[in-house]
Amino acid sequence: MPTKLTAYLHGARVGSFTDTTFTYDPAWVGAAGQRVFALALPTTQLEHDGPHVTAFLQGLLPDDDLAAARWAARYGTTTAPTDLLAHIGGDVAGALQFTDGDHGPSWEPAGILTAVTDADIADHLRTLRDHPEAWDLPTSEFTLGGFQSKFTLTRITAGWAVPSAGAASTHIIKPGMHRLSSQAVFEHLTQHAASAVGITAAETTMTMFDDMPALVVTRYDRTADGARVHQEDLMQTLGLDPAVKYQAEGGPGLDAAANVIRSATGSVDAVNDYLTHVAFHWVLMSTDAHAKNTSVLHTATGTTLAPLYDAASMLAYPHVRGFHPRRAKLAMKVGKTYTADRIEPRHLHRAAAAAGADPDTVLSRARNIAANLPDIVAVEADRLRALPVDGTLLDTFIAAVERRSAALVRRIDDAAADGYRSPSGS
Ligand SMILES: Nc1ncnc2c1ncn2[C@@H]1O[C@H](COP(=O)(O)OP(=O)(O)O)[C@@H](O)[C@H]1O
Ligand SMILES: [Mg+2]
Repeated sequence: MPTKLTAYLHGARVGSFTDTTFTYDPAWVGAAGQRVFALALPTTQLEHDGPHVTAFLQGLLPDDDLAAARWAARYGTTTAPTDLLAHIGGDVAGALQFTDGDHGPSWEPAGILTAVTDADIADHLRTLRDHPEAWDLPTSEFTLGGFQSKFTLTRITAGWAVPSAGAASTHIIKPGMHRLSSQAVFEHLTQHAASAVGITAAETTMTMFDDMPALVVTRYDRTADGARVHQEDLMQTLGLDPAVKYQAEGGPGLDAAANVIRSATGSVDAVNDYLTHVAFHWVLMSTDAHAKNTSVLHTATGTTLAPLYDAASMLAYPHVRGFHPRRAKLAMKVGKTYTADRIEPRHLHRAAAAAGADPDTVLSRARNIAANLPDIVAVEADRLRALPVDGTLLDTFIAAVERRSAALVRRIDDAAADGYRSPSGS
């Protein structure tokens, strides 16, 4: 018997999943003022069946098969999304919660918070160093997408707690990519820089848990009083499995992403903001901005573009294959190329217009980003020298940002003076 998985949004029963089907509860659909549950599962029909149903659930689970397999082994189940979410669906991205079968939620009323010390967290960070797939602390019950090692915690007055039985986490902890030294530091610098140039971005800090540094990301899908805010990533909204998130592997590109943002939010400002994210990734060579690294929030007042998250510049790693500034590729094409260094301001201008954004606004924001990044990055990078981070990587990063930003300011000014036209038409 396939697992029947019941979904709750803000605590209200929405419907149930089995294998490839989803069925809305008519009572939920009929209730006044319901918010969006899943854009790919519109309420215009009560029954949905197909790969987009499974893809929606898969989007809530780790992209790392080993991490998913570890959860499955822990609960003695398969890695089918309905099976896994029956156990770890109490705290997911957004405001959904899942339970097994028809019985009421086992996580009511408030869940369990188990206090942990910095030493416990440091131990777990050490475990992740050797076993990147070991996302779970002993009492963890949560799931998030993505490939990188991560776990969730809840801020409590006395420090930190591990949430379970439906309690909401407030922070995501990431030790950073294992193959790149100090990668979490550069994710923090990138997110910090985004906020500092005026982009709404997830707040991050580099925190020492005893002798172990980690990136601590504040969840924007939790309010200060612990309530959940609903969100979907763009792969979910498009009904696509996260396995095909990269455009180069058949996933969505800029136009598809911008289209779904425009239709979901009904706002050109949101499309301008999304293209500003694209411009930021281009300037800072943040190479992983595929459709799963952009989300929309479904709030009581409508759908909006979610804050920027999971942005990380690769400018500190010119010695690593694929990340030399001349060769680094973005996750989505701008014009005809993924290679950041070959993307000219006129290509971004044209791509922004084609995506339905205001191209002059996007390019003037790109210039503003490039003009301000060097100082922002230098100040924050110097603050981080107190951490156990390789200082030469910070030096490389500061110098590369300085060089690239200065070059782009000139290139944007020249292109603007020429009306973003190209002599050769390319
Ligand atoms: N600050 C945040 N607030 C809420 N949800 C987030 C935040 N950051 C990431 N997420 C969610 O968690 C998922 C995994 O996080 P992400 O940082 O993208 O990990 P990875 O580096 O493994 O891709 C994202 O796809 C998104 O759904
Ligand atoms: Mg991600």
